Amino acid sequence: MSEEQLFLRALKGEITERVPFWFMRQAGRYLPEYRELRATANGFLDLCFTPEKAAEVTLQPIRRFGMDAAILFSDILVIPHALGAEVRFAEGEGPIVEQTITSDRIAQLRVEDVSEKLQPVFKTIQILRQELPKETTLIGFAGSPWTVACYMLQGPRGGAAVKEFATARRFAYGEPKTMQRLIDLLVEATIDYLRLQVDAGAQALQLFDSWAGLLTPDQFDRWTVAPTEAIVTALKESHPHIPIIGFAKGAGLNLARYAARTGVNAIGIDMQMEMAHAITCREGNQAVQGNLDPLLLVANGEAAAHKAKDILRHFERVPAVFNLGHGIQLDTPIAHVEALCDTLKAHRRNG
Ligand code: CP3
Repeated sequence: MSEEQLFLRALKGEITERVPFWFMRQAGRYLPEYRELRATANGFLDLCFTPEKAAEVTLQPIRRFGMDAAILFSDILVIPHALGAEVRFAEGEGPIVEQTITSDRIAQLRVEDVSEKLQPVFKTIQILRQELPKETTLIGFAGSPWTVACYMLQGPRGGAAVKEFATARRFAYGEPKTMQRLIDLLVEATIDYLRLQVDAGAQALQLFDSWAGLLTPDQFDRWTVAPTEAIVTALKESHPHIPIIGFAKGAGLNLARYAARTGVNAIGIDMQMEMAHAITCREGNQAVQGNLDPLLLVANGEAAAHKAKDILRHFERVPAVFNLGHGIQLDTPIAHVEALCDTLKAHRRNG
């Protein structure tokens, strides 16, 4: 019998002897080897779409820290790019989608193009399955429709200055039918994209809904829960065994509904939520994943390792994966990450 990876066992609802770990945005600019390779690429999307380089970047944190899972190096905005919206990653500004989305523009977006245009991503996955250690799980991912729509609707006035995505929220209120069309299109594109990731070799999937916390409870049900449920249902139809992690950042009191209705195998927990409470929001055998504050890991390595142990104590009797409450910060000292990894590797349940 082949030994199943620790991370996959946790996602399937097992209380593993050690809690597996990885960190959101574990590849990236806090690593000098990433900055070096990034400088050889002709822009960020070029890095995402050059399979050898994207695979190398994915492997960098695994070599250094030995996480239990590697996350495919790409970005949630490759979907709007593949649909035909021009995406630009401006230094110090964050990503920008060039054209503002109107109903005319939505009619021009082409779901059929997604599989073709994202071929390099599938190639990256194939390379990674060859190169990753056999005990390391490969996670594929996509942004959730709502979060991707936030960037698309914000248009060229996006970037660091705009945090609350008011344009997207106003659009959802003012033109709900057009919004629904955009979300449906993104649901369809995301299903195609994730199916192809699994076919290429992704062993688990995560949906990032980074801006779910901006929504009112009604909007949360419509723009976060329903599209996520549609994606999970379709994936489970074609690939019944693929575990899916749903990370609705800022879900707060909506988390229990999200857990119950979407059918995800694991719920991502942000750092605003107490782990003891998050555990009560689980549905059935769902695993929890989270939730160390990435800023604590920047500011105080010792306190971060201490807090990690506290989180692990909450995981004693539930299927769980250790992670941060959001992506790793770019000024995170490598020594702090090393110390945290040492703590996590040494930990054992029931002793
Ligand atoms: O290691 C990994 O986690 C894999 C790669 C990954 C990236 N982006 C690489 C990246 C993943 C999983 C993402 C997801 C992503 N992208 C999210 C969801 C997670 C979250 O953080 O909430 C979101 C909202 C985005 C959109 C996005 N892409 C932003 C806001 C930015 C700019 C951030 C910044 O600091 O400038 C990006 C660009 C991006 N994506 C970078 C990386 C490593 C930095 C680009 C560079 O190297 O110049």
